[in-house]
Amino acid sequence: MATSRPHIYPRVRARRLRTRPSVRDLIRESTLTTDDFIYPIFVREGVGPNQPIPSMPGQSRLTLDSVVDVAGQAWELGVKALAVFPKVHEDRKSLDGAEAWNDEGLVPQIIRAVKAHYPDMLIATDVALDPYSSIGQDGIVKDGDLHNELTVEALVKQAACQARAGADLVSPSDMMDGRVGRIRDRLDADGFDDTLIMAYSAKYASAFYGPFRDALDSAPRQLEGIPKDKKTYQMDPANSAEALKEVELDLAEGADIVMVKPGMPYLDLVYRVKATFGRPTAVYQVSGEYAMLKAAFANGWLDEDKIVLESLLGFKRAGADIILTYFALDAARMLKRG
Ligand code: PBG
Repeated sequence: MATSRPHIYPRVRARRLRTRPSVRDLIRESTLTTDDFIYPIFVREGVGPNQPIPSMPGQSRLTLDSVVDVAGQAWELGVKALAVFPKVHEDRKSLDGAEAWNDEGLVPQIIRAVKAHYPDMLIATDVALDPYSSIGQDGIVKDGDLHNELTVEALVKQAACQARAGADLVSPSDMMDGRVGRIRDRLDADGFDDTLIMAYSAKYASAFYGPFRDALDSAPRQLEGIPKDKKTYQMDPANSAEALKEVELDLAEGADIVMVKPGMPYLDLVYRVKATFGRPTAVYQVSGEYAMLKAAFANGWLDEDKIVLESLLGFKRAGADIILTYFALDAARMLKRG
């Protein structure tokens, strides 16, 4: 005869904490709010209509005017941060990506336009050369691989240019060694001590970036003598101890916020980074994750209204403080509806 264990069922009923919505609300461990969101947007040069991105339904390459409109919508919805990604004309791309530090370039123009209308909107800018590189690499190639020092010098110029234009967070996404410290030194020397560095610290060589590269036409070019992919700088998806090392280095060099990217397949890293360092931690739900969910919604296979918030809540539960997501505005509307 089994002896009953007095301290478990029926005395202990886990379901008692789930009986009614008000009880569930009371004991909820993680909450999602628009304060957590950064909305990544694609911008393009020139005038004319926005260009929808086929593999990212609902997202477009925005022109200057519509960026200001979108910033207004975001602000109204409580989304107070944008991340800007430029689609640069092929003619302005080069091997050294020099357009990246043109003070009259697309990104500085966008920052100034948004700030003129919404001065408190935070703007994050990507520090990497790929949108400006004629070979689709994040930096400068020499002898068949990315040259760390030449690339870091270029990135420092790019970050300084973004800070001059008014960027609030500069976000190195290139994975070169030592770039965070060098960017910090330059920002401080230029008087931008309050410009934050949000470092893509644990950034993987992931195929989930495919739709993003379509949007910007920034995929690595398949040419003789240059790398075919980004595996000599972005991380191997098999590794996690290495990600902690990357985060540690970026924090030591002065990163204010560290990031894990992609998001959903890398939640273990979000958890470990937050648990290990306890510092502001961002996660990027990248273009491929968005595309995958959108495709399922379009087929009626998943319920958009429920899945979007569930996917984002998972990031909070794992420990993220900040979520970059193309669903930011949709999620904000859903949260508003309740
Ligand atoms: C540029 C950059 C990429 C993304 C953000 N910054 C692409 C890449 O590294 O190839 C991907 C974002 C997304 O897929 O949504 N370095």
